[in-house]
Amino acid sequence: MKFKHLGHSAIYIAPDNTQYGILIDPYCEFDPTKMPLTDIFVTHAHIDHSGNAVNISKATGATVTAIFETANYMEKQGAKVQRVSMGGKLKFPWGFAKFLPAFHSSSFPDGSYGGSAASLLLKVDDKIIYHAGDTCLNQEMKTVKELYEVDYAFLPIGGVFTMDVEEALIAAQWLGAKTVIPIHYNSFDAIKIEDKELKRFEEGLLAQGRSGFAPE
Ligand code: NI
Ligand code: MN
Repeated sequence: MKFKHLGHSAIYIAPDNTQYGILIDPYCEFDPTKMPLTDIFVTHAHIDHSGNAVNISKATGATVTAIFETANYMEKQGAKVQRVSMGGKLKFPWGFAKFLPAFHSSSFPDGSYGGSAASLLLKVDDKIIYHAGDTCLNQEMKTVKELYEVDYAFLPIGGVFTMDVEEALIAAQWLGAKTVIPIHYNSFDAIKIEDKELKRFEEGLLAQGRSGFAPE
């Protein structure tokens, strides 16, 4: 599998079988003529995560998988949805998906309740991918390490609404992630971080023996 960071927390994953395409937290533009899309995952209702999921689902027929209340809301808006709750393992032709606890809130711009905010664990081909969504550092990450060997972790580092660099470095350790990709920073004013912070994150990962990704 391959992946691409589309900005903020949006990640596109291309499984080896090119019939499939996966999009997480699509607060981004997406051109379905360039990349196949079958599955969309939304970690929580906040607009910088639910983003364009409904429109992309309508345009492509891709299924949005989300926590029960978030999925219900999006279905009413016309998306094709699959409802899930914490810990439920959903099988896909490319692997499996599981929503895990995140410490955050979840509501749509009109105030509608989105259920619990979640982190996401995916197995795509033979790789384990953890996408933290929005969360603070939490002990559940240790459980992930106990149960899975995480190949790629997407961790928020912008602070204010989520972990910051310092805590994301601890999260990387708790998850035991081989490679860590920073997300949810610099995309709007409240979560701007200094260049030296970003550098500290990458150096911290390297010092832990993990690979970090060059920031875009
Ligand atoms: Ni949020
Ligand atoms: Mn967010």
